[in-house]
Amino acid sequence: MNILVVGGAGYIGSHMVKRLRQSGFNPIVADDLSSGRRAAVQNAELHVGDIDDAAFVDQVLRTCQPAAVMHFASSIQVGESVADPAKYYRNNVTATQVLLDGMRAHGVARFIFSSTAAIFGDPAYVPIDEAHPKQPINPYGRSKWMVEQMLEDYDHAYGLKSVCLRYFNAAGADPDGELGECHEPETHLLPLILQAAAGRRPHITIYGDDYATPDGTCVRDYIHIEDLCDAHLLALQQLLAGGGSARYNLGNGNGFSVREVITAAQRVTGREIPVVVGERRAGDPPSLVADSHRARAELGWQPRFANLDTIVAHAWAWERKHAHWPT
Ligand code: UFG
Repeated sequence: MNILVVGGAGYIGSHMVKRLRQSGFNPIVADDLSSGRRAAVQNAELHVGDIDDAAFVDQVLRTCQPAAVMHFASSIQVGESVADPAKYYRNNVTATQVLLDGMRAHGVARFIFSSTAAIFGDPAYVPIDEAHPKQPINPYGRSKWMVEQMLEDYDHAYGLKSVCLRYFNAAGADPDGELGECHEPETHLLPLILQAAAGRRPHITIYGDDYATPDGTCVRDYIHIEDLCDAHLLALQQLLAGGGSARYNLGNGNGFSVREVITAAQRVTGREIPVVVGERRAGDPPSLVADSHRARAELGWQPRFANLDTIVAHAWAWERKHAHWPT
């Protein structure tokens, strides 16, 4: 069964392609390679192009006739979204609509969408469940929430069934060491800490230690990439079995502060990691922790790698092997 993976050359998409293949599906990748890497697409057909190009979408859907589409391609930097919102509305909203309209034209009616904790904005309470108010505070979060709303309307009007998976902090790497996180530029905490541990950066800067949290640094819910892939697979199976549209928050329900992640990295790597305390980063909520009871109850999802040291260990194995991964 063909599954189209849009953004399958990126961090999360490439892990999903591997998982789909292992689970007996035939993943087919569409990626513009603007941030994804050709080397990350293993054992899958790759179509290089932009999904905001209706002719490209039409050609890919015509050739692969997928049973479902998984959509991982988007711009993901909060700060950049404030400076250049046009890029975010174009790449994350407009392009997604082109993809959805292509799906309608080809009668493809199942869609799995990478959403984010950023749709909630500053938390009114934690842990954050699906009912939490959606008040995104930056164009990145707004762009993802707009797509979620579009999907609700497309289901109502056209019967397009979707599952939106709202990731908290995706982290870790393929336990086999074949795939991992490789953003350019890198902005995410764990890879930056590990690059500092490896001596590829002089230090890690903590963005503020005066938050109202136990140690003053921001708290996040780090979720292993393999556990995210499990949730996607379960969502796919639910849709293929005739399930309706659904939204799920995905995290472990455990918050770790920036300092706790650094300490875990020191423990796992056995290295001293130089730390500098800097200014707060604009737009960072003090604490983001998921309530994932719904995913557990409805999808039967059970995180397998909830332990922070395991997440760090897999990311560290990747960092050591693939510091200079080819594009
Ligand atoms: N941090 C540092 N130093 C760094 C980098 C990050 O202290 O060099 C801190 C941040 O302030 C934050 C935590 O580490 O408190 C995690 O930061 P990340 O950038 O790794 O992740 P975010 O929580 O900002 O981002 C995650 C997703 C984004 C998504 C966002 C929505 O990775 O894609 O949640 O809130 F947009």
